[in-house]
Amino acid sequence: MKAIQYKDYGNSAVIAQVEVPAPSIQSGNELLVQVKASGVNPIDIKIRMGQMKAARPVQMPFTPGGEIAGIIIAIGDQVTRFKVGDEVIALTKTNGYAEYVTVNENFLVLKPQDLSFVEAASIGVNIGTAQCVLFMAGKLEKGQRVLIQGGAGAAGGAMVQMAKAAGAYVIATASGKGVELAKSLGADEVINYKLYDVTDFVNNVDLAVDTAGGEGQAKLFSILKQGGTLLSIVVPPSQELAEQHKVKASFVASNILAQTLENGIELIKNGIFKPVVSKIFKLSEAAIAQDFLTAGGVNGKVVLTVD
Ligand SMILES: NC(=O)c1ccc[n+]([C@@H]2O[C@H](COP(=O)([O-])OP(=O)(O)OC[C@H]3O[C@@H](n4cnc5c(N)ncnc54)[C@H](OP(=O)(O)O)[C@@H]3O)[C@@H](O)[C@H]2O)c1
Repeated sequence: MKAIQYKDYGNSAVIAQVEVPAPSIQSGNELLVQVKASGVNPIDIKIRMGQMKAARPVQMPFTPGGEIAGIIIAIGDQVTRFKVGDEVIALTKTNGYAEYVTVNENFLVLKPQDLSFVEAASIGVNIGTAQCVLFMAGKLEKGQRVLIQGGAGAAGGAMVQMAKAAGAYVIATASGKGVELAKSLGADEVINYKLYDVTDFVNNVDLAVDTAGGEGQAKLFSILKQGGTLLSIVVPPSQELAEQHKVKASFVASNILAQTLENGIELIKNGIFKPVVSKIFKLSEAAIAQDFLTAGGVNGKVVLTVD
């Protein structure tokens, strides 16, 4: 089968398309999926650059790809929830940039019928991360004020939609065409962070979520109400600033299982949540796709199609 691999850490020049044997089911609760589309995530790039050696060590040669959509072509003898021919979304963690991948059934959900494979490959990490951050860690409730830093990004855009659907008052930061996108996803207010300082416009927030990292994170402490919460999915927030501002602050590493996706999938089926695909590339263009994401200014998910 065709797969994307690299043998060394480095820039996108290390990426190559190769022919390798297709994987086979190794345990009773695994399934073999023919990949139709594969989502490209910032972590794919961080791993390739060698920035995740401690947290996510990988064996070379390595095939990236944490989320896919495809068709089940074989199932292990203990699989109960799926059958051959089912169209699914899978959180693969790795190996998703390939024609076939094996997945444990705990990381698989049925693809909503109305979604294309490309749309389906764009949502797993986003809705799973949003669920972990907003509701599992952030305990967001109806009527609360939430700010999403990076509200037009892949993960941030999902958070805007899911927070709004839960009845929160949603404020987003974004730039350029992302301002209109964040509004269209349901944000009640959008601050263009390149033109304005969020601290001049926003206060009394129950939950602030940082999906962007960088210097902007420190500003989020002062917009929180006392006792509020700052959560980051990029870098651990300062505990010193948290104490100073009398708020809670922590890093969230989302642990996405099939059940973590249920809320987002339900919103999709009800037409409330819309997948946002920024750009589609072929599997053979994986290096270009990763560079496109690295360049920034990307609103929504970058997806590879696998034919
Ligand atoms: N911990 C976890 O479990 C977890 C899960 C998923 C993702 N992540 C991480 O979360 C980050 C975002 O992922 P993603 O897939 O959403 O990436 P993405 O689609 O590239 O989104 C990042 C967004 O941040 C915006 N941004 C950049 N600088 C900003 C600033 N100073 N203020 C406000 N917004 C700013 C960008 O907008 P413009 O460039 O257009 O201005 C972009 O829309 C990545 O670092 C990823 O690795 C972590």
